[in-house]
Amino acid sequence: MNGAQPRVAIVTGANRGLGRATAVALAARDIRVVLTYRGDADEAERVVQEIQDAGGEAIAERLDLGDKSSFDAFRAGVLRRVDERWGRSDVDVLVNNAGVGVFGALESVSVDDFDTVVGTNLRGTFFLIQAFAPHIADGGRIINVSTSLTRHVSAGTSIYSASKSAVESLARSLAVELGPRGIRVNSIAPGPTATDFNGGAMRDDPELRRTLARSTALGRVGEPREIADAIVALASDGLRWVTAERIEVSGGSQL
Ligand SMILES: NC(=O)c1ccc[n+]([C@@H]2O[C@H](COP(=O)([O-])OP(=O)(O)OC[C@H]3O[C@@H](n4cnc5c(N)ncnc54)[C@H](OP(=O)(O)O)[C@@H]3O)[C@@H](O)[C@H]2O)c1
Repeated sequence: MNGAQPRVAIVTGANRGLGRATAVALAARDIRVVLTYRGDADEAERVVQEIQDAGGEAIAERLDLGDKSSFDAFRAGVLRRVDERWGRSDVDVLVNNAGVGVFGALESVSVDDFDTVVGTNLRGTFFLIQAFAPHIADGGRIINVSTSLTRHVSAGTSIYSASKSAVESLARSLAVELGPRGIRVNSIAPGPTATDFNGGAMRDDPELRRTLARSTALGRVGEPREIADAIVALASDGLRWVTAERIEVSGGSQL
């Protein structure tokens, strides 16, 4: 990281859910945040406002991980605004949080479902890292958001789990490739967490929450802030000797 200069992080999919909590938590640690949203600019601006109200600094940029052809313009826009706003020509942290899940039995998964999940979670994440790697400062961090479902699987999770296993694998390979520049690449694997994900089931379905609680050592589903704090820890200097790792943050799910 760059001594006296402001530190800068990009968090994808930060208009809501885990990304939003991560953006807020990083900003509270005096890290300037570029948060991305896909559809709802107003929702993203509310996160920017929340961060500013708490004394932090953030900007929002639109990103669709499914549209690789937009990545050059996205990168140019981010780098221009980061320079104008914070006087930096690069960034320190890239959190690849944005992702989608499609859940269903083998025979129910369509080619469109497959392309959406793999196109967003793997293809989008890979090419975003490719676009930004030259613009991540030496000593920086890349953190991919995976899932506990790469360790304990259940029926109907095949394509989602596979896409996230690939994201973890990517992190390990890129840790080797980017290690000579001091860039740490790791995965955070959340367990069930109360967000809009999967139709908000982990937040809103009492029966599912009870079932998940029974199979979790700490006896409940996670809250977004609990995942965000782990991402902040990985971004911090305290975990500077950690790279190529998968760290599960699930309260001990399905042990
Ligand atoms: N919640 C859980 O239980 C859980 C557990 C393990 C892992 N995860 C992972 O954690 C990450 C965040 O999930 P969440 O729970 O916060 O889910 P969420 O509330 O559904 O938020 C998903 C975020 O990803 C963005 N996104 C989706 N597709 C995108 C695309 N093509 N391009 C750009 N952004 C896109 C969404 O943008 P829009 O608002 O525009 O749709 C939104 O900001 C995901 O990678 C998910 O797989 C979640």
